Amino acid sequence: MKRILVTGGLGFIGSHTVVELQKEGYEVIIVDNLLNTSMDVLENIRSITGIKPTYVNLDLRIKEAVTNFFDTNKIDGVIHFAAFKAVGESIHKPLDYYENNLGSLVYLLQEMVARNLDNFIFSSSCTVYGEADSLPINEKAPIKPALSPYGNTKQIGEEIIKDTCKAYDLNAISLRYFNPIGAHESIKIGELPLGVPQNLIPFIMQTAAGIRKELAVFGDDYPTTDGTAIRDYIHVVDLAKAHIAALQRLFDKKNPSKFEFFNIGTGKGSSVLEVINVFEKVSGLSLNYKIVARREGDVTAAYTDTTMANKALNWKAERSLEEALDAAWKWQQAQQK
Ligand code: WQD
Repeated sequence: MKRILVTGGLGFIGSHTVVELQKEGYEVIIVDNLLNTSMDVLENIRSITGIKPTYVNLDLRIKEAVTNFFDTNKIDGVIHFAAFKAVGESIHKPLDYYENNLGSLVYLLQEMVARNLDNFIFSSSCTVYGEADSLPINEKAPIKPALSPYGNTKQIGEEIIKDTCKAYDLNAISLRYFNPIGAHESIKIGELPLGVPQNLIPFIMQTAAGIRKELAVFGDDYPTTDGTAIRDYIHVVDLAKAHIAALQRLFDKKNPSKFEFFNIGTGKGSSVLEVINVFEKVSGLSLNYKIVARREGDVTAAYTDTTMANKALNWKAERSLEEALDAAWKWQQAQQK
């Protein structure tokens, strides 16, 4: 049984990926420093799959701790989620982001190459494209100067991995996520935003739950059908399955080059007002929101061309926006209990 290290495996996307890995028969070892999640997630994963993943409390910013982990654990592949990911926060705390997101990555890769370990999957983001020149966005789209230190850590992270694959016997795939949303159909795992949610969907859910007074829609003066910005919202379970597909591609040695990257989204763009309308339909509620000024750094539209991922990973998103919003709302209600 292949043993997969999942860093940040108690987080939103990490936990959903651990569930899919276990369903595929992989043995999973999670490292997480619990800075952005809770230990309850481990038991919740077990309650879904019946298998409790091994968990090690590890801060990947401590090189000796990372070395010690690899001295004592046999690993066949790594899926690296652990990172800080709040765009706005990164602007005020750039050094925390560079230290955590890049320091951890370097320490992980150093241990892998030192031990001839292989098969590395990296959590990247469509944010590397900035405001794309044309839509839908495919993998040939140029990387634009990052609008935030967070986005910069994803761009630099990919460069670090590419150079490492060139210099050593490492094969890697970077997955550039569009907007992950939703929760597992068991409603046992989902998004746990700490503090005031920065992202649209958790803010909608907390507004509907009465935790937030109203949703501020950041601008309705974009050049789009209804004036609000467009994104590609992908169900987190579909996103998790893309990681399994990418890992399998490396195990099957189907990758013609040692470093590859794929856009992971549904290929469908939805505006903020469209998301609100769909949410109101699935929940039967009327959402309290107001239009305010644009948020600095936001792009008008971002949704992907799914051709490359469909072909190379033999994967495509299957769940709808309705399903994702319904699961997210059920998850939010479960948090209130
Ligand atoms: C979505 C849309 C906002 C909140 C970011 C990162 C990306 C990835 C996902 C990590 C935009 C609007 C939002 C609100 C609003 N993160 N909005 N009111 O900015 O597309 O992507 O999160 O990997 O890397 O860049 O996601 O959910 O913040 O915003 O109107 O209270 O909702 O303007 O149009 P974003 P988001």
